[in-house]
Amino acid sequence: MESTEQNTKDFPPGPKGWPLVGNIIELARNEKPASVVFTEYAKEYGNIFSIRVGKRWAVVLNGAATIKEALLKKGVEFANRTTSYTTDLFTEGGQDIAFGQYSPSWKLHRKLAFSAFRKLATGDNKRFEKLVYSIIPALTANLDSKLSEPFDPHTSLSSSIYNILASLCFGKQYEFDDPQLTRLIYLSKEADKLAGSGSLADFIPIFKYVPTPGQRKLEAVWKEFLGFISQELEEHREKYDGGFHRDALTVSTRIKDEGKEDMNLITETRIRQTVTDVFTAGTDTSIFTLQWCVGLMVQYPEVQAKVAEEVDRVVGRDRLPSLDDRGELVYTPQQPCTRLCGHFLDESGKVRLHPEGFMPFSTGRRVCIGESVAKAELFLIFAWLFQHYKFSKPIGQEEKDFSEGNPQPAVNMMKDIEVVVEKRF
Ligand code: HEM
Repeated sequence: MESTEQNTKDFPPGPKGWPLVGNIIELARNEKPASVVFTEYAKEYGNIFSIRVGKRWAVVLNGAATIKEALLKKGVEFANRTTSYTTDLFTEGGQDIAFGQYSPSWKLHRKLAFSAFRKLATGDNKRFEKLVYSIIPALTANLDSKLSEPFDPHTSLSSSIYNILASLCFGKQYEFDDPQLTRLIYLSKEADKLAGSGSLADFIPIFKYVPTPGQRKLEAVWKEFLGFISQELEEHREKYDGGFHRDALTVSTRIKDEGKEDMNLITETRIRQTVTDVFTAGTDTSIFTLQWCVGLMVQYPEVQAKVAEEVDRVVGRDRLPSLDDRGELVYTPQQPCTRLCGHFLDESGKVRLHPEGFMPFSTGRRVCIGESVAKAELFLIFAWLFQHYKFSKPIGQEEKDFSEGNPQPAVNMMKDIEVVVEKRF
């Protein structure tokens, strides 16, 4: 929660900051990830504390009970988003879902996208499987070309996820080495990198009039990214024949027929920004989850063997895993969560209840709209990968810990890894 004003009377306590910059310096210099630093602050100042980042005050909530009280019990009060130079740039002035202000227009676009994703992922299983599995020929060719030497699985997984989302949004796929796909991935990463290193204008607004080289580069990169999305949308508008766009169309027609919503709120910029959200919020989240899966399965070969055994027993080798297998494949989908987020299986392999603080998709009014798509897509790719391939550590790296994280301010990234892949049959 952010504000440029501090209500001194009831304002939560927090670490003392410097004039003008607030707590920026100590946060930037601290080598620990923000989650660890904030937990330390919470011990000192309580579960609700404040920090100042440049001119902006932020109130930080810590602990599952406090967060749930805010996001669920006081959902509307906490549904808004702060703005900044960088988010305004990314979202053409807050016209997307992820950073958009809580407004009638935002609500309508979120409702439209959320219903369309849920319809797609929980409706006709075969249609969703077809969409995800459309990447299988290219992914198989890519992995088969890596059989002889160690490789970093990140690029193969990135191309797969971007292609699933391209099918979803544009009804098209790219070759893994298509210059357009490579450029799209590059632009998205570059924007992340440039924005991630922080812009002074976000914290001290006067700096937006002093364009630094980094700021100019970010503007150019993002202009090209948005241009790409617009062009693809334009090119494929006529061919919209399935997937998300078909569902979005059905949902919007239904909403229109019900006459409850103001359809004038649907604008070209909002549509471009919703699709842009899919390519930002829906890419790295899924790619890093899959990358962690591969790294963890390599670190724990006995778990990988059990996953492969279960897939062999339930699915066999003559067909692809299906969403209908979810009831039978009990061990397989738990593996990423077990190692990543805590221990969700007991000694006998039974699923334990999730800990209270387990909210990977957040909760409340801003809960992830891609949760059903992400869960279904990750289940299918994970099961398929270990049905067909075995991953292991390269010779000479037996002692390296492949489950080691590389914590960044907001997320616990995985360290770069190289793995060896073999075909199982
Ligand atoms: C493993 C995969 C994913 C994880 C862990 C994840 C997690 C999250 C979380 C924690 C949030 C809330 C962020 C916040 O409050 O600031 C969020 C929001 C969002 N996610 Fe996801 N997500 C995933 C996949 C996806 C996918 C596949 C899509 C789209 C196809 C998507 C679209 C969005 C959007 C648009 C929002 C903004 C919602 C709003 O502000 O109302 N996500 N996601």
